[in-house]
Amino acid sequence: MAEPRDDANPLRQALPRAQAPQPCAIVLFGATGDLAHRKLVPALYHLYHRGNLPSECAVVCFGRRDWTDEDLRREYEKSLSEEEKGDDFKQVWPQFASRLVFVSGTFDDEDSFQRLKAKLEELDGSHGTRGNRIYYLAVAPEFFSPIIDQLGRANLVYESHQESPWSRVVIEKPFGHDLESARALSRDASRVLDESQIYRIDHYLGKETVQNILALRFGNAIFEPIWNRRHVASVQITVAEEVGMPGNRGTYYDSAGAIRDMVENHMLQLLCLVAMEAPVDLSADAVRSEKVKVLQALPHWDPKDVYEHVVRAQYTAGSIDGKEVPGYLQEKGVAPDSRTAPYVAMRLTLNNWRWADVPFFLRTGKRLPKRATEIAIQFKKPPTQLFDVEHDGPAIGNQLVLRIQPNEGASLTFEAKIPGSRRRLQEVRMDFRYGTAFAAPPPEAYERLLLDVMLGDPTLFTRTDEVENAWRFVTSILDAWQQPDAPAPVTYPAGSWGPPEADELVRRDGARWRRL
Ligand code: BG6
Repeated sequence: MAEPRDDANPLRQALPRAQAPQPCAIVLFGATGDLAHRKLVPALYHLYHRGNLPSECAVVCFGRRDWTDEDLRREYEKSLSEEEKGDDFKQVWPQFASRLVFVSGTFDDEDSFQRLKAKLEELDGSHGTRGNRIYYLAVAPEFFSPIIDQLGRANLVYESHQESPWSRVVIEKPFGHDLESARALSRDASRVLDESQIYRIDHYLGKETVQNILALRFGNAIFEPIWNRRHVASVQITVAEEVGMPGNRGTYYDSAGAIRDMVENHMLQLLCLVAMEAPVDLSADAVRSEKVKVLQALPHWDPKDVYEHVVRAQYTAGSIDGKEVPGYLQEKGVAPDSRTAPYVAMRLTLNNWRWADVPFFLRTGKRLPKRATEIAIQFKKPPTQLFDVEHDGPAIGNQLVLRIQPNEGASLTFEAKIPGSRRRLQEVRMDFRYGTAFAAPPPEAYERLLLDVMLGDPTLFTRTDEVENAWRFVTSILDAWQQPDAPAPVTYPAGSWGPPEADELVRRDGARWRRL
């Protein structure tokens, strides 16, 4: 086991070492897939490198290929970029690689799961994993139930009340494709697993800046008194992406669209953290129960409301950073007559005491001019205007912006007097940057989340009732879009900030989308 190295890649920050996970085997289903290569392998390697993986651990990769352990190790080595490898890769990689084991099998085959079981028992002896298991389902959603079922049949899951050894199942999104399928999945899972054993990943919750929303709100006394309908004019949540449909992504994406891919999970989670009441403590259930109340306060829309409050759009060919890119309908894997929308904007209000009538504007889209996620709280104007105000562009007023990524940080815009004898004001900004304040950028979301699964802390994972309430809202939008009289998606050129219809959506409240 590598000693934690503080001199390693300076771009990464160690997770607190005081937390020591117990020995365990991590079984990756979907081990040869894109997520494993892009996110999970680098995250596991860095956890190991930093001494955050227990010294008695094994990563068991379960897949259809006919690979040996050596094949797997060679493939996974290629998953790491030069930056992710850091300086001492040559020394650390062989130690990490010796923990990687391949088991060949299929998800619907009992024999495969018996082989997996035998391998896990062998590793308990050879690698000291002590019977503790994490099953990570990085697979297409249609395989969730069959895998969980097979885990149950092979007795690979223990009773939940048993403290040791323990078993936990991590499920990647999408958790269902509408309310009914999400409920069916929860029912299937509950036949084998207790809620406390299920860890549904929403990787946005692993982002340090997302966790900072609660720290900013409830670790300070100055924001909460004004964090409500009396002082807040509107809230904007933006998740903008430059990417289109890389590789084979189009095939999955065309069945999801921005509404399932981003709104149902990441964006509603951001909304919950911005809008929720203070939990009694930071325990998993206290935090998640408050989030559920926000989701319950989401509107109950009929199709007419959806047409009025939601804009869906597809990008047409355009250019980003001087590079020509195809339109959504020309992307590989996308049906040429698809109505799936890679852009969604909406205006909603929360039906509760704190937020009644305050518009929340949400927008997310692919092929926008840049990658940026932020939350902007727009405060109301002063009751009277005593000063002359000078602005270069349209007035911003008091705005608190939480930059989730990139340039992680927060800034507050307010008016200040321009020096001189006249009573003139100009907007200025107070700015906090993670990189400057904490010397290093925050750790990768997947590292934090994997560590939390090992530690048995479900706070940053979504509970069944969160998922179902989110789907209740999103399904009302999906149903409206299925109606024969539903308006077709509008369009925007790739590289622009979305369709004019989205501008109109916010203009009705006298607001504008922020230029990022
Ligand atoms: C994923 C979506 O959950 O989040 C992708 O499936 C999206 O479509 C990605 O690109 C964005 O994540 P991040 O961390 O890059 O903002």
